[in-house]
Amino acid sequence: MKTFPFIYNEPKEFLSSLQPKQWADFLLGEINPRFSVTAIKARVVAVREETEDSKTLVLKPNWLWKGFRSGQHIPVTVEIAGRRVTRFYSLSSVPGEKHLSITVKRQKGGLVSNFINQNIKKGDLLELGEASGEFVLPQTLPSKFLFLAGGSGITPIHSILKQLQSLKYNGKATLLYFVRSFEDIILRSSLEEIAKQTGWLEIHYVFSDVPKEGYDSGFLTKEILQKYTKDLKSYSVYVCGPAPMQTKALSLLEGNEVKSELFMLPGQSALKVKKTGTVDVFLSRSHKTIQVKGERSLLEELEDQGIYPQSGCRMGICHTCVCKKTVGSVTDLSKGEVSQLGEENIQICVSRAESNLELEL
Ligand code: FES
Repeated sequence: MKTFPFIYNEPKEFLSSLQPKQWADFLLGEINPRFSVTAIKARVVAVREETEDSKTLVLKPNWLWKGFRSGQHIPVTVEIAGRRVTRFYSLSSVPGEKHLSITVKRQKGGLVSNFINQNIKKGDLLELGEASGEFVLPQTLPSKFLFLAGGSGITPIHSILKQLQSLKYNGKATLLYFVRSFEDIILRSSLEEIAKQTGWLEIHYVFSDVPKEGYDSGFLTKEILQKYTKDLKSYSVYVCGPAPMQTKALSLLEGNEVKSELFMLPGQSALKVKKTGTVDVFLSRSHKTIQVKGERSLLEELEDQGIYPQSGCRMGICHTCVCKKTVGSVTDLSKGEVSQLGEENIQICVSRAESNLELEL
């Protein structure tokens, strides 16, 4: 029997083996590095210094960018020392503006936030992903909003406030912004401009580290909520900030409608424990066995040993880090649940080793 070559039997597979998209990307990239048919690439068209340790990058994405809703975040990928690293950042701009922007604050030990603040300049190219997240406005706007922001948690709230402004909102909104000092207020002039132009926004800064005359200092308490709200239960609340602030807010706002977005700092994985001894993790694709303590997330413990699996949000949202566990048990740090011993997909950024493991990595 006559056998036809691959090209006749499997025309689709043959065409895809030629990798036309990769070729198109290569050729388009020669014309303009922002052009691509596979990846959302964005040119940095401006860099604005917001505070001593935070910057806003104004970005012009290519045609693959599908837009976003105020309050959502995007994965941003940069190449650091030959390694592609992805982190999630909230958009601080508002849909409908000519360009989009992200505002990035340096985090202690934060690989990408430090890299962006130190190295990214006008003209550079970043790779983005699609926007996602449920920290967005509802269809029907409530008459009263309370926004609680902590540190760089102001960025999605800034976008939401600008969106309310463009929607000609005519209710009332109170922003309590908890930040280390007056100098650390991110996007201050823009926030105050919204308040001035609209008349419905009241802003109160609360300084945790460096008190300032005429301003509140300290952390989120019942007293401070009562000071700036009337009939707390009648507010629709949006909270974005570090984990301790979120936990406190949720406990003080029981009975309120609350939307919250967590900002987890590097090394701040929930449910850290102290353990004695180590367990073996066999990485079946790379045929390596390493020892981990099982005290932090598998992702962090692998990275400590120079192994860098794909990751994104590092807090169990984006699923970039999902891999198959074929043997052993882990604790899912997002739920506090210990898994079965058998085969399942796990998110290694929120999974801690409990026994010897075998992972498809
Ligand atoms: S890195 Fe996003 S879910 Fe793990």
